[in-house]
This record gives sequence, structure tokens and C-alpha cells, in this order.
Amino acid sequence: MKTSHKHLRGPGLEVLTQAMMCNLQNVMLQNIDSSTDQKTWLEDRLFKCSYKAVFRAGYLSLFGNASHNCEPGSVEKAKEKDQAESETLFHEFRKYDQLVPNLAYGVLPPREKMEAERIKAFFWKALSMQKMKIKDNISRWVWDMQQGRQELGIKESMIDRYMLVLLWVSQGNTGPSAFWLLFFLMKHPEAMAAVREEVNRVLKESGQEVRRDGHLINLTCDMLMKTPILDSAVEETLRLTAAPLLVRSVLQDMTLKMANGCEYRIRKGDRMAVFPYTAVHLNPEIHPDPHSFKYDRFLNPDGSKKTDFYKDGKKVKYYSMPWGAGVSMCPGRFFANNELKQFVFLMLVYFDLELKNPDEKTPKYDVSRLGFGALHPVGDIQFRYSLRF
Ligand code: HEM
Repeated sequence: MKTSHKHLRGPGLEVLTQAMMCNLQNVMLQNIDSSTDQKTWLEDRLFKCSYKAVFRAGYLSLFGNASHNCEPGSVEKAKEKDQAESETLFHEFRKYDQLVPNLAYGVLPPREKMEAERIKAFFWKALSMQKMKIKDNISRWVWDMQQGRQELGIKESMIDRYMLVLLWVSQGNTGPSAFWLLFFLMKHPEAMAAVREEVNRVLKESGQEVRRDGHLINLTCDMLMKTPILDSAVEETLRLTAAPLLVRSVLQDMTLKMANGCEYRIRKGDRMAVFPYTAVHLNPEIHPDPHSFKYDRFLNPDGSKKTDFYKDGKKVKYYSMPWGAGVSMCPGRFFANNELKQFVFLMLVYFDLELKNPDEKTPKYDVSRLGFGALHPVGDIQFRYSLRF
């Protein structure tokens, strides 16, 4: 946990965000070159496309890039290797992802159980310490997690297994959240216009412009700190679509006091679970009209971040809990937040975007994922995009 806090905030966060910025542009612009027609509208599935881009770039930023040497063409070859490998990993990850709810409930049929075992073995190999040794730019977070366990004398095969846990926690929520964020912006033109204006302004103030000669935008942490409207849209998206079940073991007998005066005696050895999604996120007293997406819900009239929310006239401390709370609150939340913002920032400055069906309804949430973190949509959404430059 200490390792996570050390490398997922402060200077470590800056290095990761920088890596994400390069990797994200490399995967997003993979099939776009100088011959791509600016006027051409391309069509794709929004959930798959968003999840894939954020997964691939997030994976490369944390688990490292293919190494290259000084020979001519070596950098390009390494880039192609990254693109191919991250694509394969995404497809296997999605297969596993779809098995997760039934796997967790212990109700996978035998054939799917075998499939889950196959995929786990695939990832243990793909993320193994041996493979990591020949990579460049492996993040300090992953590196220290490996080294720390090795120093404790933990077997290499167990460390390889642990790497899949790290991949799961770092990639399972961010891609689906990126989908919802972009979907809500496309569905709400006033939100899209406000965020688009903000990101265009921040890009302009940094003295940069988008170019199609392979020159990447340098989207820095500093720039990401100048986007209060996008921040609010991210927070609103997570309020509506992050539904984790927070489980805690009770280590000693205690009394839990509720805000309404009720008291519960909790016994040592019990397990407790909190589900903030219905209790907080969708509570109409805290968030009026709770099922609607309001991009500026977390903004004060003066444009600053809104943190004052009330229930029964009292200020609520935990008015949104997508990252959990307390000792095991998500240590990757700063990076995840940056990833979501980077994804939307780059999508908006590079592309014009629209839903194929302008009257598209917000997809239903896949209820089998309640409790597992970011919700998934039932089905996918067709969208269109074209280059802006
Ligand atoms: C939108 C994206 C994400 C969401 C919604 C999310 C949410 C969560 C939640 C709800 C927990 C459990 C917290 C608790 O029990 O109180 C958690 C744990 C964790 N998350 Fe995230 N997370 C995201 C992205 C990330 C990323 C990108 C990383 C790493 C780079 C990460 C690393 C972790 C780790 C290591 C834990 C386990 C903490 C522990 O058990 O002590 N997460 N996350």
C-alpha cells in the first residue's frame, strides 16, 4: 500500500501521466496518417473503442514498452510491437472481464471455468517477471511491487500471479468510466460545448496546436489542473456509473453511530459492506434529480469546485464515493482521474464526435456488475468521428 501511495501521486504521478500522454496518442492515432481524409467520418462502437484505447495506453504506461536500440527503424518496430501486444492483451482481458461477476459468485459453468483458467495462465505469462525484464519504461509502481515481493522471498510464480491483480485493479474501471464520460458529453450538447471550449482554451494557452505530422501534443499535469468543468463532468460521470461494494473485516467489537442517531453493535470477526451507490450517489436529498447527468453539478456558480452537499440540513462529508474511503481507498485515483481527463481532452482536440443516432437513449446499466466498480452498459453505442485538423 505504501508503494502505491509513493508512486501514484506526487512526482511519480507526473511521470505516469507523461507516459500515458504518449501511449494514448500512439494508440488513438495508430491508423491515422497524412493520407487520412479530414472530411471522412469513421464509425465505431463507443464502449469498445474507449475501453480499448484507455486499457492499451494504461497497460503500456504501467507495465512498460517494448525495448528498442539505436538501429534505424528500431523505435518504429518497438511501437508496432506495443500496438500489437496491447491489442491482444485487451481482447483477452475483455473475455476475463465478462466472466468476473459469475466467477466472483462461484457460479461459472465448467467450460467457462476452464476458459477463466486459460486466460489467467495467459496473463501470468504475459506479465511475468521474465517478460518485464526486457521492457523499457516499466512504471516504478509495478517495478517496486515486484521487487518488494522478491525481497520478501515470495516465489516468482506467485509474483507473476499478483501482476494480474495489479492489471485488474488498474484497468478494470478506467476504460468503462472513459466510455460513460464521452457518452454523456455526446448525449448532452451543452456539456460537450462547455468542455470543448475549456480544452481548446487550455491547449491554446499552452502555445500548442494539433498537427498531423506525427508531432504529439504535450498534455502536462499542469494543463490538466486547469480544467474545472471537465473535473466536474468526470465526478458526475463517476457518481452515476461507479458502484463498488466496499467490504471491511471487523477487527474489534465496536459501536457504529449513524448520522440519524441509530447505533449498531458490530462484533469482532464480522464482515461489513457499504454500498454508497444507492445510499449516497443516487440519494435525491444529496443530489437532486439524481438519475440525470448534470455536467456542472460539482461546480459552484463562480466556477470553483463544489464540495457543499446537504442531507437533512446537515453538510455531508462523503457526497460521492467512487474510490471507496478510509484505509483502502483507491490509491490510483489521481492517476485514474488524469487518464479519464487525458482521454477526453485528446478525443476532443483531435476529433469531431457525434452519436450515430442523435436520439440515442442512455444505455441501461448491466446490473450483474453492481458492486464490482464501474458499471458497464447493456450493449454498445455506435458513434462517428472525423479528424479536426
Ligand atoms: C475509474 C477508475 C477507478 C475506480 C473507479 C477505482 C475504484 C476503486 C475502489 C472502489 C477501490 C476499493 C476501495 C475501498 O475498498 O475503499 C479501489 C482499490 C484499488 N485501486 Fe482503484 N479505481 C480506479 C482506478 C485505479 C487505477 C488506475 C489504479 C492503479 C494505477 C488503481 C489501484 C487500486 C488499488 C491498488 C486498490 C487496492 C487498494 C487496497 O486494497 O488497499 N485503481 N479502486
